[in-house]
Amino acid sequence: MLIYLFVCFLSHPVTASPASGSVSSSATSSATSSSAASTTTSSTGKNTKRGLSYPSTDNIPDILNVNQTNSVISWQYDWGLTPPTNLAQSGIEYVPMQWGSGGIENLGAAVKAQGTNVLLTFNEPDFNQQSNIDPNIAAQLWMQYIEPLRTDIPGIKIGAPAVSSGGTGFPWLTTFFSACGNCSFDFLPIHWYGEGTGGFYDYLYQMYGEFGNKTIWVTEYADTSLNDTEVMDFINQTTVFMDGLDFVERYAWFGYFVSSRRFSPGATLTNILVSITETRKWLRVQ
Ligand SMILES: *[C@@H]1O[C@H](CO)[C@@H](O)[C@H](O)[C@H]1NC(C)=O
Ligand SMILES: *[C@@H]1O[C@H](CO)[C@@H](O)[C@H](O)[C@H]1NC(C)=O
Ligand SMILES: *[C@@H]1O[C@H](CO)[C@@H](O)[C@H](O)[C@H]1NC(C)=O
Ligand SMILES: *[C@@H]1O[C@H](CO)[C@@H](O)[C@H](O)[C@H]1NC(C)=O
Ligand SMILES: *[C@@H]1O[C@H](CO)[C@@H](O)[C@H](O)[C@H]1NC(C)=O
Repeated sequence: MLIYLFVCFLSHPVTASPASGSVSSSATSSATSSSAASTTTSSTGKNTKRGLSYPSTDNIPDILNVNQTNSVISWQYDWGLTPPTNLAQSGIEYVPMQWGSGGIENLGAAVKAQGTNVLLTFNEPDFNQQSNIDPNIAAQLWMQYIEPLRTDIPGIKIGAPAVSSGGTGFPWLTTFFSACGNCSFDFLPIHWYGEGTGGFYDYLYQMYGEFGNKTIWVTEYADTSLNDTEVMDFINQTTVFMDGLDFVERYAWFGYFVSSRRFSPGATLTNILVSITETRKWLRVQ
């Protein structure tokens, strides 16, 4: 495991302008409130977009708190295909992921057994420290094991591979889609690490426009600034922005790591998490 230690922190290299209009400036002007837009609030008071990326099984009380009525969190994933017991019992939707090629022969059975109708696929296959799959092989695996799920599990929603925002991600996805002309996907998960909202919004719009205007899930994102105020501003502004942006269907801040050992001095993620108090406020788990 320890997948989260290896995420790519490279800033994306994209210099392209947003697909339409001045995204960054509209985002800045709309980011004046930190409350969720009403369109994202379900009848049970959850934010239909906001999720947890949650790789740990060692903070069971927290995940139970997430299910309390004052939390807005509506879904979770942990980069795995089947949930550990505490996540399975939490009452929060668990979204399975086929992380790499390993065990893909059992994918259909695992997804059916859970009765889920949403699936995430290959995690940063462009990155040699993540699932590291050649795009042509990924296309073959997709046609053999993933595409058939559409007939096995009618109505299933399938996410495309989630590439990193480093320089290898965009070309990987381009090659994958040209090798996989008959692959279909329902939404495009993206990852982003960097500093400042402008680069993040540009990337969102670029990925949206370049791959067929498919609904986006932001399954990993964080501001890597060492300045806590900047990170909190980023969280607050991007939350408002994504709550109001129709083509973003879901997002999960990277990440929800509560266990104290993840905040030990020198931990890679200490700075981007700001503090657990602020993170919990955002998650409204307490
Ligand atoms: C989660 O919340 C639902 C709805 O309030 C409740 O029925 C369920 O028992 C809760 N599950 C846990 C594990 O707290
Ligand atoms: C897509 O499917 C069609 C019809 O089955 C087939 O002729 C074609 O070769 C396929 N394309 C790719 C890229 O696999
Ligand atoms: C995506 O949306 C843009 C702007 O509305 C439009 O110009 C473009 O044709 C769309 N692309 C696809 C593949 O639908
Ligand atoms: C942190 O960022 C804020 C906002 O940009 C700035 O006002 C402040 O001076 C920064 N703090 C440090 C220690 O650099
Ligand atoms: C972000 O919003 C939270 C409330 O959701 C607020 O407590 C916090 O002060 C805000 N932080 C910044 C830096 O604006």
